[in-house]
Amino acid sequence: SPLHFVTLLGSLRKASFNAAVARALPELAPVGVSISPLGSIADFPHYSQDVQDAGFPAAVLAMAEAIRNADGVIIVTPEYNYSVPGVLKNAIDWLSRVTPQPLAAKPVAIQTASPGMIGGARAQYHLRQSLVFLNAFVLNRPEAMIGQVAGKVDADTLRLTDGVTREFLASQLAAFSQFARKLRP
Ligand code: FNR
Repeated sequence: SPLHFVTLLGSLRKASFNAAVARALPELAPVGVSISPLGSIADFPHYSQDVQDAGFPAAVLAMAEAIRNADGVIIVTPEYNYSVPGVLKNAIDWLSRVTPQPLAAKPVAIQTASPGMIGGARAQYHLRQSLVFLNAFVLNRPEAMIGQVAGKVDADTLRLTDGVTREFLASQLAAFSQFARKLRP
């Protein structure tokens, strides 16, 4: 039966390499698996319980609902200062306060891309730590860390063009699809 995944993007940059990766995913998904982007986390205010108490922002509630309705979430994000970008952590903090908490028991896959050699590996492990508290079911491997991404994305079209990277991401999506099917309620 078909699966639907959503992508959560951790960069707000217009020419984001991670956005290029996320945009490529629908073409790389196995047969029977569709992938679409969640709304932008740019629309989330800075988390404060005072703001929450005044009423959850519509963008937060809409994203929580989209995640609840999906069979899995693919988080695609840069690494900032060896960790998770503040804007993505802020989004996760917001989502964690919604009831029912949308990432609980939700299959999650992580992808990071960086112009550097390590491909955002350190951010992945910080992200996994937060996802433990949210009780998300995070795919262990294959881990998708895309180093030297500047040479793998076409500068004019912002398309992920590197064949080896595309094949590797396709293999992660295949593994994630199996994982999500196994965990489907
Ligand atoms: C970075 N960058 C970066 N790269 C990395 O591999 N490890 C890191 O720790 C950091 N730290 C970092 C901090 C801050 C504040 C910025 C702005 C950038 C570089 C980063 O990978 C690069 O800017 C990417 O292009 C960001 O991803 P997007 O926006 O292109 O998807």
